[in-house]
Amino acid sequence: MNTLSINQLLHFQLFHNYNQTHQIKIMGKIIAGLVGFDDTRQSGVEIPLYKNKVLKIGREQLSREDNTKGEHRCNSYYLRNKHVSLIHCYIWSIQFDEETPFVTYIKCLSSNPVSVNGKPLSRNCYTILNEADEIIIKKSLSARFYYCEGINGSSSNKKVGFSKNGKWCILPHLIGVGTFGTVHVARHVTNPKKLYAVKTIKCDPANKYKVESSILVKLHHTNIIKVYEEKMLKHEGDDYLRIFQDLAIGGDLFSYMSRDNASLLPLPESESLFITYQILKALSYLHSHGVVHRDLKLDNVLIMDVPIQYPFVVLADFGIAKEVDVQQQDLELIFSQYYSQSRSKSRRRCTDRGMPGLKGRASTVAGGLKQPIARMHTIVGTAEYAAPEINILEIGNKVSTEIGYDEKVDVWSLGVVCHILLSGISPFFSDSLKDTVMKTKRGLIFFDMKEWKGVSKEGKLFVKKSLTMDSYSRWSIPECLKSSWLIKDNRQHWLEECYKNVVKR
Ligand SMILES: Nc1ncnc2c1ncn2[C@@H]1O[C@H](COP(=O)(O)OP(=O)(O)O)[C@@H](O)[C@H]1O
Ligand SMILES: [Mg+2]
Repeated sequence: MNTLSINQLLHFQLFHNYNQTHQIKIMGKIIAGLVGFDDTRQSGVEIPLYKNKVLKIGREQLSREDNTKGEHRCNSYYLRNKHVSLIHCYIWSIQFDEETPFVTYIKCLSSNPVSVNGKPLSRNCYTILNEADEIIIKKSLSARFYYCEGINGSSSNKKVGFSKNGKWCILPHLIGVGTFGTVHVARHVTNPKKLYAVKTIKCDPANKYKVESSILVKLHHTNIIKVYEEKMLKHEGDDYLRIFQDLAIGGDLFSYMSRDNASLLPLPESESLFITYQILKALSYLHSHGVVHRDLKLDNVLIMDVPIQYPFVVLADFGIAKEVDVQQQDLELIFSQYYSQSRSKSRRRCTDRGMPGLKGRASTVAGGLKQPIARMHTIVGTAEYAAPEINILEIGNKVSTEIGYDEKVDVWSLGVVCHILLSGISPFFSDSLKDTVMKTKRGLIFFDMKEWKGVSKEGKLFVKKSLTMDSYSRWSIPECLKSSWLIKDNRQHWLEECYKNVVKR
């Protein structure tokens, strides 16, 4: 990673506005660890792994300044040996929600491989750690990985039903449970070292999930999850659809923002902007190809690499996406106008207003899909993120007005996501579905709360314009891309720089 560019981004004037309260050092709960011998210190060691923290092993020491630059996401263990790289490897655990086990990953960043159970893990490669796995960094560290007592860690010993699927093998590690499917880790026979994700959906043959795979296989964009193959299969009389896709080793945005004290931690404004920028890229691609996602939310934005600051994100879960005749907008032009010049130069969520706290992941409501039409009338989505024109209370019915809705529903959901990224608060969330819908229909947002202190006026304007009640006045994706939040002070240049860095990583 070219740290220079990341640092350049950090020098955004935005960063200086960054609210101090975002920088709280949170250690959290110890969930796992390494126990063994540190050759560099000639002593036995026990290295803890904290929930929601990435363990960084290497020669680099964190400075005080680093801690203010998002390094609070990391915990370091130093090895003082010249054979060890500054950042030699990362170890971190992802847990989808309280009911699912932790899955722990190790990624090597050094040209000097880490050995896991005697097998070398080369630079930029990762694998899953299981109980008692042996990790060796030559001449420096030899240790075993363990989960703490009472911690539910995903293990390779457990069996998963019907685990073979043609050339695919489904591993027992459960990484997600959605409204419709379960997601596991998988391997393909041609490259047993590479890990994939597989979503399994129980369905009847006429199931709408055929739509998910039929849409996904056509889409090719850096910020959209890559799908390799889809397979229908029968198991004990039931039909299942399996979608084999890239594995997002950083989990989803919901887990990324979750914290031990049962709340969502807002992100620094520059990081929120960077994530929004990537989602905008994905949405602009989708809309220009006539696809409306209709279920954009934190759970459906995945982190493709180690979950450290400025993550590379992709849009996933096209379960209720829809192909429509969206008005042809020349989004490519917007990009070339504003962004490519810079290239050449270089399960739980927040509660009510003011009280961030975990309440459980939001689930999706699905309506039946019809043939592609210009405007959609089916009531779908997740109440908390659904635009007012969707009328989510009338599940299974058509939207009560004749007007229906269009691709601007994705902009509304982006506004909700952005509101949460910047403040940690879900603007319309309420304990009951009915109240959530009522709050959405009122559409009030409050920037006078302490959580918004330090957020720029351009950031607030972006949220306000994407959460505009009237869909005609609501910003379109091209308008979002041209907003002052994204282009002020030649910001688009830094965004593209940072983007190129994380995509390369
Ligand atoms: N490719 C993937 N890599 C890693 N985690 C994934 C992947 N796909 C899904 N997940 C996890 O599983 C969860 C459920 O998957 P999703 O496709 O959203 O299913 P559903 O349609 O049932 O909501 C996601 O919220 C995410 O946490
Ligand atoms: Mg989902």
